[in-house]
Amino acid sequence: MVTARTVIAVAVLIAATAANAADPDAVVRGKAVFDAAGCKGCHTDVAGKGPALAGGRRLATPFGVFFSPNITADPDHGIGRWSDADFARALREGVAPDGGHYFPVFPYTAYAGMTDGDVRDLKAYLFSLPPVARPNRPHEVGPPFGWRFLVAGWKWLYFDGPPVAADPARDAQWNRGAYLVHVLGHCGECHTPRNPVGALRPALALAGTRQGPDGGAIPNITPDRATGIGTWADAELRALFSIGMLPDGDFVGGGMGEVVDNTTSRWSAADRDAVIAYLRSVPPIHNRIARENKKPADDEW
Ligand code: HEC
Ligand code: HEC
Repeated sequence: MVTARTVIAVAVLIAATAANAADPDAVVRGKAVFDAAGCKGCHTDVAGKGPALAGGRRLATPFGVFFSPNITADPDHGIGRWSDADFARALREGVAPDGGHYFPVFPYTAYAGMTDGDVRDLKAYLFSLPPVARPNRPHEVGPPFGWRFLVAGWKWLYFDGPPVAADPARDAQWNRGAYLVHVLGHCGECHTPRNPVGALRPALALAGTRQGPDGGAIPNITPDRATGIGTWADAELRALFSIGMLPDGDFVGGGMGEVVDNTTSRWSAADRDAVIAYLRSVPPIHNRIARENKKPADDEW
């Protein structure tokens, strides 16, 4: 017998499904957030020709080797069973649905500043893609850095919320640039030096480091004229962000090559100009980073 209760339950279910079934605008907006946040590079095992977002990408860091997890909507191997709240907590707080803490190689310290709307749209986009049933691979990280419970202490010491706050004294373009650089783009994850336990050193934001996440040198992108990008023309920065070309005609490789492919080349012209305006406004820091195989100069950290 069909009771009123059943009818209501079915109606609620249909309404809920319709609300969850991808809102096409949310999916389009979510794709832009996904690109600007560079999720694809880390979560796809390109070297092993793995399917998009199914994880297994090897991330060799000074602390050990991490393997990214599957973030497709597969219910068993991916995040298909996650609620919106689970997803928001993982991205902005670095906490798993079971309460465990994620290692900060997943840049939630940057994503902590993501707006509610961007988080929702991003999930709508991920859930619109094909699920892939590929199991996760365990990390190969020795003690103490491989001890997940210690991450709680690390977070207590070094993680205190969003990396930037909106600044009402600055214009919308500057605020957008700050959000793209520090939150979505997590540029500092590579371009800012770290302390010995892997926390970014805010006083040296974007000043480059000889030991980036994969052990290689990362240039200074503050507007210091001698050691940063202070003498680059806007057109040179645009060429780098659009096609990966450096002022000397060479093309960026490695980590930045991926950032250009997955992120900066997909920015709208307005977003690219917002990033350029923002980078020109940060304090210039004198920090010379020698290129590979070069002897460190006197003024290098
Ligand atoms: C620099 C590499 C990197 C980037 C960029 C990155 N992630 Fe991850 N992500 C990881 C790693 C590594 C883990 C596993 C962390 C752990 O095991 O503690 C992870 C974990 C996750 C998890 C938890 C999955 C699970 O099964 O518990 C989700 C969800 C996730 N990432 C989504 C994203 C999204 C969405 C983006 C883009 C906004 C993103 N990630 C960008 C490296 C990255
Ligand atoms: C995965 C690490 C990584 C991330 C994330 C990253 N970069 Fe880079 N970046 C590099 C590396 C490595 C180079 C040097 C590439 C080369 O010379 O081949 C570089 C070079 C650059 C340069 C050229 C500087 C110079 O002196 O040659 C600029 C500008 C730059 N990055 C801006 C950014 C911005 C803006 C972001 C955030 C949207 C970003 N990068 C995110 C690794 C990264």
